[in-house]
Amino acid sequence: MQQSASKRPTHTPVTSENSIRDSIVEYLLGADQSVSGELLSHEFGITRAAVWKHIHALEEMGFQFHRRHGVGYRIERTPDLLLGHLLRQRLHPSVRLGEHVIWKKETTSTNDDAVALLNAKMGVPDGTIVTALSQSGGRGRHGRRWSSPEGGLWQSIVITKPVPLQRASSLTLVTSVAVRRALEKHTQLPISIKWPNDLLCGGKKLGGILAEVKAQGETTSYAVIGIGLNTNVDASEFPKEIQATSTSVWSESGRRINHLDFEADLLKELDPMISNVAVGGAGFSLVSDEWKHASATLGQLVRVSLGDRIIEGRAVELDDDGTLHVDTGQGVIKVLSGDILF
Ligand code: BTN
Repeated sequence: MQQSASKRPTHTPVTSENSIRDSIVEYLLGADQSVSGELLSHEFGITRAAVWKHIHALEEMGFQFHRRHGVGYRIERTPDLLLGHLLRQRLHPSVRLGEHVIWKKETTSTNDDAVALLNAKMGVPDGTIVTALSQSGGRGRHGRRWSSPEGGLWQSIVITKPVPLQRASSLTLVTSVAVRRALEKHTQLPISIKWPNDLLCGGKKLGGILAEVKAQGETTSYAVIGIGLNTNVDASEFPKEIQATSTSVWSESGRRINHLDFEADLLKELDPMISNVAVGGAGFSLVSDEWKHASATLGQLVRVSLGDRIIEGRAVELDDDGTLHVDTGQGVIKVLSGDILF
């Protein structure tokens, strides 16, 4: 029997497995009654077997369906995963970041995926997010490994709108402020920022940001902002070498956060900040006071690794381009990029 869903949502164009699955979710959630496999196959131009495969894949991801023979499928429970439609439902109407999501169960690195998509010139929309449940080759700053087991929040945000190169470092600085705001809202934990963009809780690392930029003349042709957050993971399961220095929301508070709600709030904070940096507005200076207030670095004695040498002194100031001023006693050294050793 042919059925029609009385409330037909407009679904996003079908361009990949990811978006067919996403569109099926959108369609089923928008329907106010069960939808038959036949209607889904007709609606999406796929075979009944393909519909069944998608439904099965969704079940594996944590969706629960009410299904009755001859009647069809109705979604009874959705999982807390950053899937396109589930996130879009929660996004503030003004937010463009996160309108497109590429979700993977496992990948090597979401930053690598985003860069590969951009280099393939397939027209990745601005604000697209690549996210995965786990990463086998997660990368941190300075080529370090980034442990990314299931339970954390691993994502890369693609920015294709051109950003003046001298402002590119502001992208990571504003991201750290936006992430901190969302973390404090959802965890009530005190979060500080260690220059340039580590998120700390109780002096231990809770998250980090890895921004990668491709330049074209004086502007970026794209930026990929990789954000890694140890949210619903048990820090005691981290690799031994980072256990003393890393922590997670779950280990600090004994609670898990809802990733979808967290992400919607993060993007609401981040979206206007990124636009502001890109269009040449006040950019980082808009939130620099907040960054300084949350800083675990300013005012502290620091040892900064500059790659080939280490300088020691007191961190005394941060410029709007992210340059840290370190007073060594013999003068002030301005450090644009480095690593604080404490
Ligand atoms: C750091 O503090 O060193 C930055 C860590 C950034 C990790 C994130 S997780 C998502 C994205 N994919 C990666 O491979 N790295 C970033």
